[in-house]
Amino acid sequence: MAGVSVGTVSNVLNRPDIVAEATRRRVLDAIRQLGFVRNESARQLRAGHSRTIGLVVLDVANPFFTDVARGVEDSANDAGLAVILCNSDDDPAKESRYLDLLEEQRVQGILITPVTATNQRLEQLRKRGTPIVLLDRRATDDTQCSVAVNDVLGGELAVGHLLAQGHTHLAFVGGPFTTRQVQERQQGALQAMRAAGRDPGELHIIETSALNVAAGRDAAARLAGTMPRPTAVFCANDLLALGVLQEMTRRGVRVPHDLAIVGYDDIEFAAAAAVPLSSVRQPRQLLGRTAAELLIEEATEDSSHLHRQVVFDPELVVRDSSDQKIGRRSRHRLPIREAGTATRGSA
Ligand code: RIB
Repeated sequence: MAGVSVGTVSNVLNRPDIVAEATRRRVLDAIRQLGFVRNESARQLRAGHSRTIGLVVLDVANPFFTDVARGVEDSANDAGLAVILCNSDDDPAKESRYLDLLEEQRVQGILITPVTATNQRLEQLRKRGTPIVLLDRRATDDTQCSVAVNDVLGGELAVGHLLAQGHTHLAFVGGPFTTRQVQERQQGALQAMRAAGRDPGELHIIETSALNVAAGRDAAARLAGTMPRPTAVFCANDLLALGVLQEMTRRGVRVPHDLAIVGYDDIEFAAAAAVPLSSVRQPRQLLGRTAAELLIEEATEDSSHLHRQVVFDPELVVRDSSDQKIGRRSRHRLPIREAGTATRGSA
């Protein structure tokens, strides 16, 4: 219909810059009239890989990973690639099934927050030519790229802040302890205790089965029964902290007056919580963008690519849930009477 060769049609689709304007327009008109859609599987067979990258996260329901995925998608989109999102649910078997699928799909590379510290399957993928970038996990050597946050510093910032507020009975809520992020945040918390001249053994540790709101509610129930009850708690992520806030509020424990809370990630819901949550902010979208850029560079510029292990520093964002100035003001707050007759205490 366009009066050109198959090769010219292929150039119009894949390398339009080398085709004359008039020819390109004739071919595009024919494509529109025929309703032609390229066959990606056929293209993929010829090219040897698809125009996609894989992203494997631990928990797609955690807004932290949603924000990271947003950064990944921004970089992939800039490179003309699509993202295949996989949710491992912190399950090594499910993670392995997704890695098989992504290899079969001939993705250009894989971004992954691995479930376990070491992963033979990832090593095998890399050796067979699929670039891998560790996301939210530091590579242990320079044989691959990684993008992470200094979680030990994050733990230090959180507990250092609570100690500076004058708290003497502190707790750490997080788990399972097999999760590298939890280990490093707890390590930072213990380091802050030492730096303040406190016995790290005084940090009350509550291990949770997961890093979600339900596990936070469960931890709060256990915390409420601790005598003497801690006056401050550092949670390994915001979902746990929101669960602790919800359960403690239900039990009539006032935050921060009776209990100060600090979370981790600074997801959007932290600032929007009923008592705005203090949190250790991770640069979530930047993590995703940077990891995707490293992966795409490795996949497309293999010879000149140098592996890099990028580590960002987190920052503490203080809000009402751990601000003792708020707590002091709340000490003078008059009790709330029947709905509609509430009165406010002095400023
Ligand atoms: O995957 C669980 C946690 O680790 C997330 O909330 C985020 O903090 C990540 O670093």
